[in-house]
Amino acid sequence: MNYKNILVEQAEGIALVKVNRPQAMNALNQEVLLELFSAFKELDQDDKVGVVILSGEGKAFVAGADIKEMLSMNAIEARKFGETGHVLMNFMGQMEKPIVAAVNGFALGGGMELALACDFIYAAENAKFGQPEINLGIIPGFGGTQRLSRQIGRAQAKELIFTGGIMSAQEAKEIGIVNKVFPPETLLSEVKKVAALIASKGALSLRLAKSAIDTGYNVDLKSGCSIERESFALCFSHQDQKEGMSAFLEKRKPAFTSK
Ligand code: CAA
Repeated sequence: MNYKNILVEQAEGIALVKVNRPQAMNALNQEVLLELFSAFKELDQDDKVGVVILSGEGKAFVAGADIKEMLSMNAIEARKFGETGHVLMNFMGQMEKPIVAAVNGFALGGGMELALACDFIYAAENAKFGQPEINLGIIPGFGGTQRLSRQIGRAQAKELIFTGGIMSAQEAKEIGIVNKVFPPETLLSEVKKVAALIASKGALSLRLAKSAIDTGYNVDLKSGCSIERESFALCFSHQDQKEGMSAFLEKRKPAFTSK
């Protein structure tokens, strides 16, 4: 499919999606949100793709929702815009394929929310994170009041959202938003390395691990363990389990076949 605002490349089981509006710091307008949704749906169905990487072209990852587009919105239009963001970011959480954010620069407002909707984040040393919506007279609208507090706790989320402050990649790592920080020139190759490692695992066990973690996160421990038990059992329905265990016992590398 041809896209106007995003770039999609695929090689060796890894898809790289880049938001490509560098002249507007990759700001998310309605069209970008819909293009990302369409690309992710397509990649999630593609058996040749094991892992998706999301990044930005130029000096921003994404500097937020498009302020020019939002300026003239009324409440009804803003609600629809927020819903489009929620549909995209909720879908990312439900994707069968893991999705890793490579945050190469500014991840502000909707950009930080987009990164948080990925399974985990690696960032460049010069990346900047923040929810500056309060400075525009609004609040985060693509899940920031919800995903951020679940990720780092309510007090940390409130401080960031109430002050509209910006933090460095290192600070974001310290409070648990970012997993690893790299020099800008090696960020993408490091993310590709971890993506290749993940893509070498069984697709079924990856899918079941992701859904058990995410579905279990919002329920009580007993219900979460019940989700885990059913998912664990389901692993034994595929040859990958026999292959993984036989390979271990035979001291060789497993060749997983689930799609
Ligand atoms: N929306 C629309 N355009 C944006 C934008 C955004 N979020 N962020 C940057 N741009 C545009 C600028 O208007 C500018 O366009 P022109 O050249 O036409 O003037 C161009 O991108 C380059 O930006 P700057 O000149 O500002 O670049 P800089 O290097 O001086 O600053 C920046 C970079 C710190 C990221 C700064 O652009 C900035 O603060 N951007 C806005 C960040 C923000 O407030 N994000 C939250 C948006 S609200 C939101 O996201 C709501 C939600 O949750 C749904």
